[in-house]
Amino acid sequence: MIIKNICCIGAGYVGGPTMAVIALKCPEINILVVDNDVEKIKNWNGPLNNLPVYEPGLSEIVKKVRGRNLFFSNDIKSAIEKSEMIFMAVNTPTKTKGEGAGMAADLKYVEACANDIARYSKNDKIVIEKSTLPVKTAEKIKDILDKKNSRVHFEILSNPEFLAEGTAIKDLFKSDRVLIGGDDSPAGKNAIKALSQIYERWIPREKILTTNVWSSELSKLASNAMLAQRISSINSLSALCEKTGADIDEISLAIGMDHRIGPHFLKASVAFGGSCFQKDILNLVYLCQFYGLHEVAEYWHQVVKINDYQKNRFAQNIIQYFGGDLRGKKILILGWAFKANTNDSRESASIYVTQKIYEAGANIDIYDPQVPKENILHDINIKWGYTLDEVKKRIYIKKESLSTDKYDAYVILTEYEDFKTLEVDPNKVFDGRNIFDNALYSIGKSQ
Ligand code: UDX
Ligand code: ADP
Repeated sequence: MIIKNICCIGAGYVGGPTMAVIALKCPEINILVVDNDVEKIKNWNGPLNNLPVYEPGLSEIVKKVRGRNLFFSNDIKSAIEKSEMIFMAVNTPTKTKGEGAGMAADLKYVEACANDIARYSKNDKIVIEKSTLPVKTAEKIKDILDKKNSRVHFEILSNPEFLAEGTAIKDLFKSDRVLIGGDDSPAGKNAIKALSQIYERWIPREKILTTNVWSSELSKLASNAMLAQRISSINSLSALCEKTGADIDEISLAIGMDHRIGPHFLKASVAFGGSCFQKDILNLVYLCQFYGLHEVAEYWHQVVKINDYQKNRFAQNIIQYFGGDLRGKKILILGWAFKANTNDSRESASIYVTQKIYEAGANIDIYDPQVPKENILHDINIKWGYTLDEVKKRIYIKKESLSTDKYDAYVILTEYEDFKTLEVDPNKVFDGRNIFDNALYSIGKSQ
């Protein structure tokens, strides 16, 4: 099957970079990235220094392919009609109400997307799940498509995205593996082949793994759970280090040199953030509970609980350093994004830690090199539950680069290189990217 037109529904952190790379590598395929967010599409079509997603290397690719074979639009109907292959890259946040609230993934955007595909499709389509989804969602999507449109054949594939934000382009160029889950039927095999041929343009064939749909869906949840579990494991040990005087960085190095363990994802931190880890683990926990696997559910739930414990522990270290009362203290928060080189702050530890410091009475300046001021204010409003009028007396968002103003404490919550070389009193630095430095400092203080 020759693919000439691809449509991607969802122009976010996954859809935008992934389609830009496919467009670059497959110049003969037209790629239509659509979204129902008018402002977002306007920004994708606007100046390269203001794209909705910040990723190193992304704007250079968009510059080459936008208007050539990559197009951004709000015209979902015509993009679906024209394309032989449709990627679903819409967001799947944790449910906030109804059955499974706080745990299960909210599939309302996926369902809306499937309804659109059913409504506008006039010929056979390959539909690809790109968003992280609960296992067996492909079945649900197929159900919606087949029930609402029996005139055409829909072949569903699962092709989870493993890119990490901040290194998305690098990850897409040199993926460890590409996973394609599909049916064993002749139509399923043809669809897998069509998608595989796209990736084969730049990914070695031996790195393209084909599985059944459910294995592919569950592999994504399992990958993220295993990665997050390593961070919670090392973070839990950082608490013990603080009590014993061992150095968590030395421990990371020592255990990571065992080739069976390996060095990655062993960096102690204030907590993992981002749109995936917590959501995917909670999703996994919900799934295990659903199948009556309560011990398994509890095992994975503990990864999220340790993450919450670490955030709180870090915030309490700062508050206790000032004797529990931060009124009249001026604190500089360095970093709002959940990691360096992204403008994404979803589930960032900074949101939580800053709230605790604010509630202890501090005056706070916030600086992040990538996250726009309006996003920070939006997080404060939505996640803290305070109106902007309430906080504006004690919160100020700095736009300019790093300040040398005098603060009572400097709290580093995102691992930007610039923050490592702060020219300030090191005794006033609370480094959430290396919690043990801060712990040593706390131990030093109490002696
Ligand atoms: C993750 C997965 O890595 C990626 O494969 C998947 O597709 C999406 O979820 P992402 O959330 O973008 O990617 O970033 P990642 O690099 O995994 O970092 C997640 C969080 O863990 C960040 O807050 C980071 O600072 C933290 N982290 C990472 C640590 O605290 N310690 C580490 O050693 C590594
Ligand atoms: P991710 O990190 O998974 O890419 P984002 O929130 O960055 O998540 O992107 C998802 C995008 O999907 C958003 O831009 C959102 O507007 C878009 N979206 C959600 N539902 C629909 C829908 N039914 N039709 C079109 N776009 C949608």
